[in-house]
Amino acid sequence: MSILTGKKIIVTGVANKKSIAWGCAKAIADQGAEIIYTYQNDRMKKNLVKLVGEEAQMFELDVASDEKIAEAFAAIKEKFGSIDGLVHSIAFANKEELSGNVTEITRDGFQLAQDISAYSLLAVSKYAAPLMTEGGSIVTMTYMGSERSIPNYNMMGIAKAALEAEVRYLATELAPKNIRVNAISAGAIKTLAVTGVKDYQSLLSLSEERTPDKVAVTIEEVGNSCAFLLSPLATGIIGDVIYVDKGVHLS
Ligand SMILES: NC(=O)c1ccc[n+]([C@@H]2O[C@H](COP(=O)([O-])OP(=O)(O)OC[C@H]3O[C@@H](n4cnc5c(N)ncnc54)[C@H](O)[C@@H]3O)[C@@H](O)[C@H]2O)c1
Repeated sequence: MSILTGKKIIVTGVANKKSIAWGCAKAIADQGAEIIYTYQNDRMKKNLVKLVGEEAQMFELDVASDEKIAEAFAAIKEKFGSIDGLVHSIAFANKEELSGNVTEITRDGFQLAQDISAYSLLAVSKYAAPLMTEGGSIVTMTYMGSERSIPNYNMMGIAKAALEAEVRYLATELAPKNIRVNAISAGAIKTLAVTGVKDYQSLLSLSEERTPDKVAVTIEEVGNSCAFLLSPLATGIIGDVIYVDKGVHLS
C-alpha cells in the first residue's frame, strides 16, 4: 500500500509543469491520493487542463478574495465532504519589491505581498481545517530568504518570515484537532514565480553550486518530501520548517 492511499488532498498553485505544486501533485498521486486542484484564474485553469485533463477535479481559488476562498471551499465540501490534506504553494510580489533596496518597498507593495504570500495560508487553513474531520496535514512552501538577507529576494523574504511564523502558530492551534502544519524550505528552482526576482539567475546558480553534486533540487524531490509530510509517516513533525534544498542552507 502507498503512503497516501485513500486520502483526498487539495493542491493549490499549479501554474505549469515547472511549478513546485506540480512536483507535489505528481508525488502525491503516485502515493495513491486523490487530488483536488485549485487554480487562481482562467489563464491558470487552461494550463492546468493541459496537464491533468478536463476530467480532473478542479476549483477556482483566488486567495486575494475572501468571497472566492469561501466559495471554493463550499464547492469542495459539497463534492468531497471531507479532505485529508492541503498543499499551499502560492506567492506573489510586485517586481519592484523584488529588486533594489528594501527601504524603497511601498506600503501597497508590502501589503500585497503579505496578503497573497502569507495571509493566504491563514485564510485557506480557516476553511480547510473544518473539512479535515479525520485529522489532516497542511504543507506550505518557503525559502531561506526568510532568515537570511538574499540579494533582491527582499519583500518575499519578509513575507516568508511571516509565513513561517504562521506555520508555528497554526500548528499549535490545529494540533489538538490532529491537523499538522509544516513548511518545506525549498532550494531555488526555475519557475514562473522565481523569474520575478531581479537577477534570479544568481539565486538559481547559488542553489546549484552549493549542492554536493552541483545539481539543484528538483520539483520531484520537493514533491516527495511533501507527500511524506502529508502522510501518516510524518505524525511526529509539527510546526516545522524542513529544508529540501540538498544542503544549500548549510553554507
Ligand atoms: N521556485 C523557487 O525557487 C522556490 C523556492 C522556495 C519556495 N518557493 C515557493 O513555492 C511556491 C510556489 O511557487 P513556484 O516557484 O512553484 O512558482 P509558480 O509560479 O509555478 O507558482 C506560484 C503559484 O502562485 C499562484 N498564485 C499567485 N497569486 C495567487 C492568488 N491570488 N490566488 C491563488 N493563487 C495564486 C499562481 O497561480 C501560481 O500557481 C511559492 O510559495 C514560492 O514562494 C519557490
